[in-house]
Amino acid sequence: MALLEIHGLIKDFGGLRANDDISITMERGELVGLIGPNGAGKTTLFNCVSGLHPVTSGRVMFDGQDITDLKAHEVARLGLARTFQVYVASGDLNVEENVMVGCFMRTRSPSRARARANEILKDLNLHDLSEFRVSELTVAAQKRVTMATALGSDPKLLLLDEVAAGLNPSEIEEIMADIRHVHEDMGVTVMLIEHVMELVMKVSDRVIVLDSGKKIAEGDPETIVEDPRVIKAYLGERYVREHGGDIG
Ligand SMILES: Nc1ncnc2c1ncn2[C@@H]1O[C@H](COP(=O)(O)OP(=O)(O)O)[C@@H](O)[C@H]1O
Ligand SMILES: [Mg+2]
Repeated sequence: MALLEIHGLIKDFGGLRANDDISITMERGELVGLIGPNGAGKTTLFNCVSGLHPVTSGRVMFDGQDITDLKAHEVARLGLARTFQVYVASGDLNVEENVMVGCFMRTRSPSRARARANEILKDLNLHDLSEFRVSELTVAAQKRVTMATALGSDPKLLLLDEVAAGLNPSEIEEIMADIRHVHEDMGVTVMLIEHVMELVMKVSDRVIVLDSGKKIAEGDPETIVEDPRVIKAYLGERYVREHGGDIG
C-alpha cells in the first residue's frame, strides 16, 4: 500500500483552476521533489493534501485512509506534517518551545514534549539555539526550526514548502544535510517544493513537475532535466546550457 495517493485532484479558486486533475502516488521511504514556475499550483496542492483547503474534486488517501474531507489538525494527527512557504514565527516563543508545539500533537505531557523537542534539536544540530526567540534567528535558522517543529509530531510524511528559498550556498548545504538526515536516518517520507535546483536534483529520488495547475512530467532527476516540456515550462535553456546533464 502506497503512503500517499492523490487521485484526480482539482482545486478551483473562483474561475481559476489552481490544480487540474493531479494524480500522484508516493511510496514509503521516497523523497520526491515538486517543481514548477511560480503560480503552478505547488503550494495549493500541499494545502489540499494537508486539509487546509477543501478540494473541488478528487480523492486523497494517506496510509490507507481517505483523508480528503478531514480538517488540517486531523490530517496532522494521522502523521502528515508540513512547513509553510511564508513562515510566521511564534515571536514570543523560544526555539525549544516552538518545537514543543509540534510535540504536543503526540503527548499532553509538557515534560515529555520538552524531552522529545530536545532530542530533535540535538538531531538537527539546533540545540545551541534552544533559548533564542525564533524572531531573533537568521532566516536559515528559522527555516530549520520550522522543520524541527514539523518533526515534533513524529510524522510519516513531511511536506516541505521552499525551505531553501533565500538561503546562501553554505546555508543550503546545511539544510540539505538536514533533509537527508530526516529522510535517511529518521526514516521520514518527504515531498519538497523547491526552486533551488542544485538541492532538489541532488536529494530527490523522483521529481514531479507542475505547470499551470497540471502535472506535466514525472521521473528521475536525470530524465527530468532533459525533458523538453520541463525545459520549456520551467528550467529554461540557460539551466541546461550551464549544467548540461550534470546535476551532481
Ligand atoms: N487562497 C487562494 N485564493 C485564490 N487564489 C489562490 C489562492 N491560493 C493560490 N491561488 C492561486 O492559485 C494559483 C497557484 O498558486 P500556488 O499554489 O501558490 O502556486 P505555487 O506554489 O506553485 O507558486 C495562483 O494563480 C494563485 O494566485
Ligand atoms: Mg508556493
